[in-house]
Amino acid sequence: MQNFDQFFGSFSFDNRLAEVDITGSIAHTKMLVKTKIINPSDGEKIILGLTSILKDLKKGWKLPKEEDIHYAIEKELIRRIGSIGGKMHTARSRNDQVTTDLRIYLKQEIQIIKNIINDFQKVLVKKAVENIDVVMPGFTHLQPAQPVLAAHHLLAYAWMMQRDKERLVDCYKRTDVLPLGSAALAGTSFNINRQYTANFLDFKNISENSLDAVSDRDFAAEFVFCMSLTILHLTRFCEEIILWMNPEFGYITIDDRFTSGSSIMPQKMNPDCAEVIRGKSGRVFGDLIALLTIVKSLPLAYNRDLQEDKPPVFDALDNVKMCLEVIIEMTESLKFVKKNTSKSMEKGFIAATEIADYLARNNVPFRVAHSIVKDIVLYCRENSKTLNELSIEEYNKFSKIFKRDIFKYLDMKNIVDMKTSYGGTSKKSVLRQIKNIKRKLK
Ligand code: ARG
Repeated sequence: MQNFDQFFGSFSFDNRLAEVDITGSIAHTKMLVKTKIINPSDGEKIILGLTSILKDLKKGWKLPKEEDIHYAIEKELIRRIGSIGGKMHTARSRNDQVTTDLRIYLKQEIQIIKNIINDFQKVLVKKAVENIDVVMPGFTHLQPAQPVLAAHHLLAYAWMMQRDKERLVDCYKRTDVLPLGSAALAGTSFNINRQYTANFLDFKNISENSLDAVSDRDFAAEFVFCMSLTILHLTRFCEEIILWMNPEFGYITIDDRFTSGSSIMPQKMNPDCAEVIRGKSGRVFGDLIALLTIVKSLPLAYNRDLQEDKPPVFDALDNVKMCLEVIIEMTESLKFVKKNTSKSMEKGFIAATEIADYLARNNVPFRVAHSIVKDIVLYCRENSKTLNELSIEEYNKFSKIFKRDIFKYLDMKNIVDMKTSYGGTSKKSVLRQIKNIKRKLK
């Protein structure tokens, strides 16, 4: 086989760990000096060598290709400072090194993604505030159900994203455990100081079991699950954008640059960005399944299968980040078309629950009220009328309890404003909700 190196190696996808690998090696070397396992002058040469590699990488210089990033850096170090570079690998193995690298890397990325999610929440809240007086139909089963504030609908997504952020905070805790010093699988007979390395690398904890430490990829799977749920939330929002943009709804417009035309149908404005985000969820869920399958059934401790952990982690990370960045800009450009949301509310009898509640408030058992209103709606359908277009006489044919004040309960804004329960859609409740979510934003 010609391309055996490419098959066997991981350099093509793990070289993005170069910087964190060097950071880990510097910490390990300092610890080796501190514990007198290597002498200070060798330690200094190693650290200077590693620092010079790091500098060159930052300038855009590329490491020569090796089996993996760990070998590439070690070989480059030896090229630069001679064979004492090889002392760096005392009391460690690539097995504890690789998972250390991935943990350092993910700890950084978790903070970055949390900030991007926070930015998305801010845009959702801003749009909620801007559109605080827009009433639109709320749906269940995608059928018109009851009127809600558009702001309430947008904030539902801000709360989902809040949970996504909190889930990442939790994932961070389990990522923040240093495996370095577990060596290949059994620990080491050198008198190392793992706590010193952990402090240097800003890890909160050190792993308790060397076999577990080198083979554990739970943190990575959790991270990809976090990414999966985040993109799942984005697909739900994108689906709504797609529906709301459809002329049948016409509830919103978004900036042209998030749409594309058709090569054949001149009238088309396709919601491509929202569709691409929806589509990208497929690969992120795939990344999760890939990673779970890679770790499944692996006996302790390290197995080379684990090398395949990185592509799905990076793929999920890169794509979710990209989708978040796009959705932030797309949401920023979102405008509600009030005339269409209002018109839509004339259809679908979305005041029906209110009429039933009216009867129930007047002592009619709710089940009976429900059945009366069902008949009223049927009557409207047969006579092509809306609930607003019925006279009080027509209402009284169904129940004598109806008085003229029933019409007050058919006004969409009134209906919304009556939903004052905690977490409900009244303007008052929604303003409180905005205050509460703002407290959770940085
Ligand atoms: N490239 C490997 C990985 O990504 C590094 C660890 C190799 N360990 C070994 N025992 N072959 O997992």
